Amino acid sequence: MSDYKPVANSQVTLTELMIPSYSNFGGKIHGGIILGLMDKVAYVCAAKHADGYCITASIDVVDFLAPVEVGEIVSLMASVNYVGKTSMIIGIRVISENLKTHVIKHTNTSYFTMVAIGEDNKPKEVPALILKSRDDIRRFFQAMNRKELKNTYKKDEAMLKQTAYEHHSFMDALSRERCKIEFE
Ligand SMILES: CC(C)(COP(=O)(O)OP(=O)(O)OC[C@H]1O[C@@H](n2cnc3c(N)ncnc32)[C@H](O)[C@@H]1OP(=O)(O)O)[C@@H](O)C(=O)NCCC(=O)NCCS
Repeated sequence: MSDYKPVANSQVTLTELMIPSYSNFGGKIHGGIILGLMDKVAYVCAAKHADGYCITASIDVVDFLAPVEVGEIVSLMASVNYVGKTSMIIGIRVISENLKTHVIKHTNTSYFTMVAIGEDNKPKEVPALILKSRDDIRRFFQAMNRKELKNTYKKDEAMLKQTAYEHHSFMDALSRERCKIEFE
């Protein structure tokens, strides 16, 4: 029989001060720094749920909703939203806080798919989830639907790759875009 664990057992928050070396030429924090922290917090959350080593299989769209400034405190809250057999979808919400003004911004939300890996280096089964709150149930249901949408997208993408392109068939569409064709 499957082992079960509550969502709360692996919920984790990572808090980090945004130091000058994290900034880009425009003085804002590099997107890559935030992505790295998101991967880290996703790992901790997944590894706590799976009781062991995990790897990142996929990262959903990450929209940068607001810039993060040097000196702000960034907090990344992660929880297991959904589990399959060996995979877990970790929802991550990122906020940043200005310690002088106490203004809090929601800067990113994304979903990382992490896979638990066993001693044999193969995916291993993870505990099922005990959903104890309305939020737990909503997140599980939304993740289920997002997974379905992603599978549909993957099929469309595979079809797109198989389509034989004859360039003259899409010249009209390209003519409405900001490009020009200069064949060599
Ligand atoms: C992720 C990985 C282990 C999957 O291995 P695999 O042999 O395809 O294993 P499976 O087909 O059994 O898939 C295992 C699980 O991962 C899920 N999975 C695999 N690829 C996925 C993807 N791109 N997106 C979402 N889920 C994925 C499968 O749906 C399956 O989930 P389930 O067991 O809950 O149903 C393998 O592709 C891999 O090692 N990728 C490289 C990972 C990596 O290097 N990450 C960066 C550094 S951590």
